[in-house]
Amino acid sequence: MNRLDTIDRPRSKVGLLGMVLLGGLLGPGLAGCENAMQDMYDQPRYEPYEPSPLFDNGNSMQDPQPGTVAMAAGRGADASGAQAASAQLEPLPPPDAKNPLPLTMAVLERGRERYEVYCAPCHSRIGDGDGYITRRGFPQPPSFHQDRLRQAPDAHFYQVITGGYGAMLPYAGRLAPQDRWAIIRYIRALQLSQHAPLQQLPDKVRAEAEAALK
Ligand code: HEC
Repeated sequence: MNRLDTIDRPRSKVGLLGMVLLGGLLGPGLAGCENAMQDMYDQPRYEPYEPSPLFDNGNSMQDPQPGTVAMAAGRGADASGAQAASAQLEPLPPPDAKNPLPLTMAVLERGRERYEVYCAPCHSRIGDGDGYITRRGFPQPPSFHQDRLRQAPDAHFYQVITGGYGAMLPYAGRLAPQDRWAIIRYIRALQLSQHAPLQQLPDKVRAEAEAALK
């Protein structure tokens, strides 16, 4: 007998019975919720440009504070749904594109800084997918320290950042192309930090590593 047969059959009967019972119990309760929600749809609020005595300038709409950073930038920024619009307008590099930024400390520093603002909340600071938002229930991203993503070309990362990927939103409107490439340089460094082939290490470090591994 197939294992699924033994597990599935009893469970589906309980499931059906359970749903009928739950439906009977919850039905009236849910209708109550719906009424309460209607009250929330109709709560008092200002229409755009409506005057308001709350503020010194008499407007309900206030100007952004000096130094406010725009949420979206680039060609799609003025569209409603700016994040998605920017992503659609962005040209993507060919699949074999090389990272145009040099491998320098300055690029890595910039990449780390942007990574920790825009990626680490979900992917975590070391890139294993255990970020704070993930711990609070957002779908868990894959770890960067797996063969598939170690071998994925830079252009794949660029495409994911630009256009989003599954549950992940596009970042085209928030990260200039240069910053996306800097982040990719930094992710490569993160990957190397967890998976460095011995031959690629500088002599001194390799000697230390070999001694430690003995
Ligand atoms: C709000 C959470 C969140 C943020 C912030 C975020 N990601 Fe993701 N990311 C995800 C999730 C979730 C997935 C998996 C999506 C799926 O498979 O549906 C993912 C997947 C990925 C993947 C794997 C794609 C593949 O081939 O499997 C890469 C690469 C990636 N993200 C890079 C980044 C970079 C770089 C940043 C910062 C610019 C970033 N992400 C910001 C949640 C996030």
